[in-house]
Amino acid sequence: MIKKIAVVLTVMVAFLALLPLTGVLADDEGGETAYRFDPATQTSRALEYKNTWEGYNLYKSNCKSCHFRGNERGARYLNEDSRTMRGWNTVFYKKDVRCAKDGAWAKLSSEELMYVNDYLYSKAYDTWDPRSAKSCG
Ligand code: HEC
Repeated sequence: MIKKIAVVLTVMVAFLALLPLTGVLADDEGGETAYRFDPATQTSRALEYKNTWEGYNLYKSNCKSCHFRGNERGARYLNEDSRTMRGWNTVFYKKDVRCAKDGAWAKLSSEELMYVNDYLYSKAYDTWDPRSAKSCG
């Protein structure tokens, strides 16, 4: 009888010990989350799909509206990989590019600019990783 209780207890302890582990594994499904340290707010931002999707749309409608190839607004052609991850952070932290200074960014709230920064950071020049599928195109 005592032996039986001991076995049951051992199984229970083992189960409880593994419980947190199963939680972590469940969270990890679908790949790891990347983070961006934002120098302006001194916070770490998770590059979740909702942030980068929001950023992508804002970038297309508010930045690409000028920075497309052959535009007549005097804006150089810009792409996601025109800057490194750090380079994009600097653009949004310092805001010392001409369009940021002359008010072309004024339509966007600081929260929206953060999304654009998240998106561009996630696609920056130095995010290329030979071990990931991203290298295929
Ligand atoms: C109204 C047009 C306009 C809009 C909108 C605009 N820009 Fe610009 N941007 C310019 C012009 C003009 C310059 C100065 C010429 C140049 O260097 O391309 C410039 C310069 C820049 C530069 C420096 C270019 C370089 O390669 O050094 C960056 C980076 C930049 N813009 C990013 C952005 C981002 C990010 C957005 C969206 C949040 C944006 N711009 C929206 C017109 C615009």
